[in-house]
Amino acid sequence: MSLQGFLSASAAAGHADDDQVSIIASLAEAAKSIDHLVRRNSIVADLGTETGGANADGDHQKALDVKAEGLILEHLSATNAAALLSEEQDDAVLLDPDGSVIVAVDPLDGSSNISVNVTIGTIFSLLPSHGDAAANTLQAGRHQLAAGFFTYGPQTTLVLTFAGGGDVAGFILCPDSGEFIRSGGALSVPADTKEFAVNSAYTNYWFPPMKQWMDDTLMGKSGPCEKDYRMRWIASLVADGWRILQRGGIFLYPADQRPGNETGRLRLVYEANPIGLLMERAGGMAIDGVNPILDLVPENLHQRVPLFFGATSEVKRLQHHHSSAD
Ligand code: F6P
Ligand code: MN
Repeated sequence: MSLQGFLSASAAAGHADDDQVSIIASLAEAAKSIDHLVRRNSIVADLGTETGGANADGDHQKALDVKAEGLILEHLSATNAAALLSEEQDDAVLLDPDGSVIVAVDPLDGSSNISVNVTIGTIFSLLPSHGDAAANTLQAGRHQLAAGFFTYGPQTTLVLTFAGGGDVAGFILCPDSGEFIRSGGALSVPADTKEFAVNSAYTNYWFPPMKQWMDDTLMGKSGPCEKDYRMRWIASLVADGWRILQRGGIFLYPADQRPGNETGRLRLVYEANPIGLLMERAGGMAIDGVNPILDLVPENLHQRVPLFFGATSEVKRLQHHHSSAD
């Protein structure tokens, strides 16, 4: 089934309204343009060079960060989206004052992988606007209407879910037809796993609950978990997320004691919320250590949070270490 067919079926089943459907379709067109840039630009390395600018959070911007956001804004401007919230902007970009949907995006996730030909992506989240977009930018993820992400890697993929119902659905961009085609049935995250994803280079900076989880994990069969684990870390949230939706696992990006990371590194509005909706709808969990990500009310657009998601048994083990530390 094509993405267009899936969107029509979702609207017919009452899982999404026409505005949501047309916005997702326009994001898919933007993703195809980003994919085109990534695959065909003869000087790909240049897309990974720094522009000299920084985003709202002080991160150095790469050329592709800026181009990707431009393409998304261009496509969304042709819809009746009420506003764009972007990791690359200080404030909301107000679009159609009558629009019913606010779109939050991380235009180019995993930028450190741009110039080394490793999977990168685009993450999106749709929120209701309630008439005044500017007054509705700080909503808990529980209010999301839809969420998903694209990956640009060996395959270009999309994973998508509507809060109103239906599957967490995966799609692959067919290079021949230029269409996203559904790949398999509903995605679900098994409760148990032997695979974890974490950047363990920061172990020294971790707080005790995370250290405890890792110590127990690394003891393997001889420890409390009574099993040996494998580790994967792609350094693109989208690529680790896609893998977990395909074959399970747990992803961990804890807060740590490095300056600026004390309350986490990943962004609530642009990264954790959409992943949180996908995980919960796929039978997994996403927490900040203690609370479900979807229950957090953002204090500002660029708020960072610790993020743990995937297999429920492993997320609960991590949650247990946090609650016994309180
Ligand atoms: O968007 C931030 C991000 O690039 C994620 O995609 C990825 O999971 C993480 O940062 C990688 O962080 P680090 O470079 O600290 O391993
Ligand atoms: Mn990102």
